[in-house]
Amino acid sequence: MRMYDIIKKKRDGGKLSEEEIRFFIEGYTDGSIPDYQAAAMCMAIYFRGMDTDEISALTLAVRDSGETLDFSEIDGIRVDKHSTGGVGDKTSLVIGPVAAACGVKVAKISGRGLGHTGGTVDKLESIKGLRTDISKEDFIAQVNRIGLAIIGQSADMAPADKKLYALRDVTATVDSLPLIVSSIMGKKLAAGDDCIVLDVKCGSGSFNKTLADGERLAREMVSIGERAGKKMLAVLSDMDKPLGRAIGNSLEVIEAVETLRGGGPDDFRELCLDLSAYMIELAGKGSREECLAQVREAVSSGRALKLLAEMVEAQGGDPTWIYDTDSFPKATTVSELLSPADGYIRKVDAESYGLASLALGAGRNTKEEGIDYSAGLILNKKTGDPVKKGELLATLYTTEKPEAVERAKEIILGATEIGPEPPEDMPLIIEIIRGENG
Ligand code: URA
Repeated sequence: MRMYDIIKKKRDGGKLSEEEIRFFIEGYTDGSIPDYQAAAMCMAIYFRGMDTDEISALTLAVRDSGETLDFSEIDGIRVDKHSTGGVGDKTSLVIGPVAAACGVKVAKISGRGLGHTGGTVDKLESIKGLRTDISKEDFIAQVNRIGLAIIGQSADMAPADKKLYALRDVTATVDSLPLIVSSIMGKKLAAGDDCIVLDVKCGSGSFNKTLADGERLAREMVSIGERAGKKMLAVLSDMDKPLGRAIGNSLEVIEAVETLRGGGPDDFRELCLDLSAYMIELAGKGSREECLAQVREAVSSGRALKLLAEMVEAQGGDPTWIYDTDSFPKATTVSELLSPADGYIRKVDAESYGLASLALGAGRNTKEEGIDYSAGLILNKKTGDPVKKGELLATLYTTEKPEAVERAKEIILGATEIGPEPPEDMPLIIEIIRGENG
């Protein structure tokens, strides 16, 4: 078998066999297939797509590219939540502690930023000293001790995805349904959770630009998860606008902490409570209403915030940063963007907001690039808000890339539609897709 022929077959719209898909994934993992052929393959998949059999074969090949984690040593019901990625999406930092405070076990394996979207691992690493590369034994011991751990993917787990994720990030092949499904579910199936809530984002800031794409993605993932014996539920949520007000690593951690204190932006807080309630509901903790009451109590009692601080400490970070977010290093350049007109914010292009944050240093342009944890945006106005000319739209933060500020402002202004009429109200949660057992 030759990689050249497999690329050509997909490029010409053919259906790949399980053997061909495994040849690609195994060869890319062991280094016998170089980056340039894998990149061409991803681009062929991007343009030609894959059917359900191919997606399923790709997912299982990704899962089998490394070790699978045995969570049987974790006492209790193991529940995970995974988002397909968005702008300002820091939900894991809130739902992990909230669900764990309600008595389920959250052993979470998260990713880094991808394209214009941020990643939980990068956000957590903005906390001084915090490690996301702890050993499997320590990870399991921490989950048994405090109920919660969030780590990055180890080199041994779904290594094919680790390489592909970084490659797709820099080759404009992120937003491809088969690649997203196999990336997310390949990792999820390699971990040993009992229940999985998927937060499938739809809209300009996500990898699924249309509702139909989001629905198909959700259904494919729910069905692959169920076939593997997991309890699955998917929430389709709006990502036409950034989630919350903060975009950028430490800015998002601070917003998550405010939310765990009972504050935070309304849209973000409500989504976090909803997702946490679905997580504990899947784990059998009661009816929807009972679960919502439990998650609200986990926040109001301060138990969820305390759990986040305990997790930070257990992973080598300084827990005092959670109680005093002034400890996060401040950006040295702070610049205000003012509204050029009166009216309402009718529409924003969330992807462009993510790109503006990336330009300020909050994400990577190459696989090797470092991150400016202080960089990003705080949105003062969001879709639907009235605005006056000269009023603050957003504050831009950067330490490493002050030269990018004017460009980032242009991106944001180009991505913000201000008009005389308010826009139609869109629900944040668009649809719930339950698996047969969910
Ligand atoms: N999250 C992932 O883990 N993989 C993707 O491809 C997209 C979002």
